[in-house]
Amino acid sequence: MNICLTDKIFKVLSEVVTGENVKAYVIGGWVRDCLLKRDHADKDIDIVVIGSGIDIARKTAKRLNPKIKVTIFRNFGTAMFRYEDYDIEFVGARKESYRRGSRKPAVENGTLEDDQKRRDFTINALAISLNAGDLGEFLDPFGGIADLRNRLIRTPLEPGKTFSDDPLRMLRAIRFATQLNFHIEDKTFRSIAENVERIRIVSAERIITELNKIIMCEIPSRGFVLLEQAGLLRIIFPELDNLRGVDKKEGKAHKDNFHHSIKVLDNISKRTDNIWLRWAALLHDIAKPVTKKYSPESGWSFHGHEYIGSKMIPDIFRKMKLPLNDKMKYVQKLIDLHLRPIALSQEEVTDSAIRRLLFEAGDDIDDLMLLCEADITSKNEAKKTRHLENFRYVREKLREIEEKDEVRNFQPPVDGCEIIKTFGIKPGREVGIIKNAIREAILDGIIPNEYKAARKIMLEKGKELGLTPSGR
Ligand code: CTP
Repeated sequence: MNICLTDKIFKVLSEVVTGENVKAYVIGGWVRDCLLKRDHADKDIDIVVIGSGIDIARKTAKRLNPKIKVTIFRNFGTAMFRYEDYDIEFVGARKESYRRGSRKPAVENGTLEDDQKRRDFTINALAISLNAGDLGEFLDPFGGIADLRNRLIRTPLEPGKTFSDDPLRMLRAIRFATQLNFHIEDKTFRSIAENVERIRIVSAERIITELNKIIMCEIPSRGFVLLEQAGLLRIIFPELDNLRGVDKKEGKAHKDNFHHSIKVLDNISKRTDNIWLRWAALLHDIAKPVTKKYSPESGWSFHGHEYIGSKMIPDIFRKMKLPLNDKMKYVQKLIDLHLRPIALSQEEVTDSAIRRLLFEAGDDIDDLMLLCEADITSKNEAKKTRHLENFRYVREKLREIEEKDEVRNFQPPVDGCEIIKTFGIKPGREVGIIKNAIREAILDGIIPNEYKAARKIMLEKGKELGLTPSGR
């Protein structure tokens, strides 16, 4: 038996289809990943049946375990069930365009080859027989195996036809090229460039799924370079596309912020699989175009780009259907703070500046430091080493101060309740003022982060505000 078909599920499938005298094949990502000896991340198995996919799904599920619930999408002629770790999806072979997510019912039944040629890429159109007569045999009419060997993304049909059937496939081509480190065949790539406008009919949800997969690749910049070269980036992510280009005045040029941003993304991807930290890296300089200024004295500047950038995030996230929750706030915070450790590493650093950074970054301080280190993209090795050393020093100081003052998850040593009780007042403005005074005194290092000292500040500030402690 073929190495891809050693799991029990394939044995049962083969018995069912052979018993029913129906032809069926494993097809798509499972076959591709098996040949590439790649982990099946999501364990999706696609089965194409020359006949009723729904019928075979029901019979297979029953044989595996009568309790399995089969979900049927009659309109699409598909059915699926979950078995152990697998999601097994059955579809009847069709002549109609293969369209996931289309509201159109599947119409005409077709042969295996009809079905294969309606798929996105040759490497995804490979099938393995489940039938007793030729069990485990590959059916590869479009040269998918050779393309896997040559690391090539290519459409089975004329690319224009494949992409007009489902324009999302243009993004999928780039996503697979990035994930697998494959090359997109020239004709296929040219066709993407010609058809970019059609991406506009694809929903933001489907686009972001692909974009997130690109961001989670080992070297995501490859995908972004392809998106840019094809002309897709300006349509699906204009804010990132705007970072492209270099301006020159009086012989002074600034760096290309698009290439810098995707390099930072690559750098951080070596250190983390946290998708939101990767997003923060990609977006950290997003406000550079809108804050860009030139002056003959100081050259190019992007004042406030960290603050404006963090303010741009909600609109970008909303448009791209990214979550508008604590993940977004985390990205905003990292962008807002991304220059702070650099500033600290350049000047004579005071304890209070370190304390303030710890206080503002809280538990995200380590991620912020990772972002800052990833932000060093200089090709000058000496400069790079110097920056990294400065950051090492900042990290050391952070550790030292945190040990001493514990401001990372700052809990005021005297809280609002105590202020209210002490002065016999109602919750309101004065409580806020006193709490602030205590926090500022601790962050400035005027007092230690301790109860006794904080209570003293409370009483002093209360006096200033005309409050007297209610006798106890
Ligand atoms: N497919 C297609 N066109 C699409 C989406 C999917 O032709 N727009 C076909 C391909 O044959 C693909 C199969 O459906 O292999 C399964 O699709 P999907 O599960 O989305 O992708 P996989 O190839 O399994 O890869 P991955 O799990 O990495 O997304």
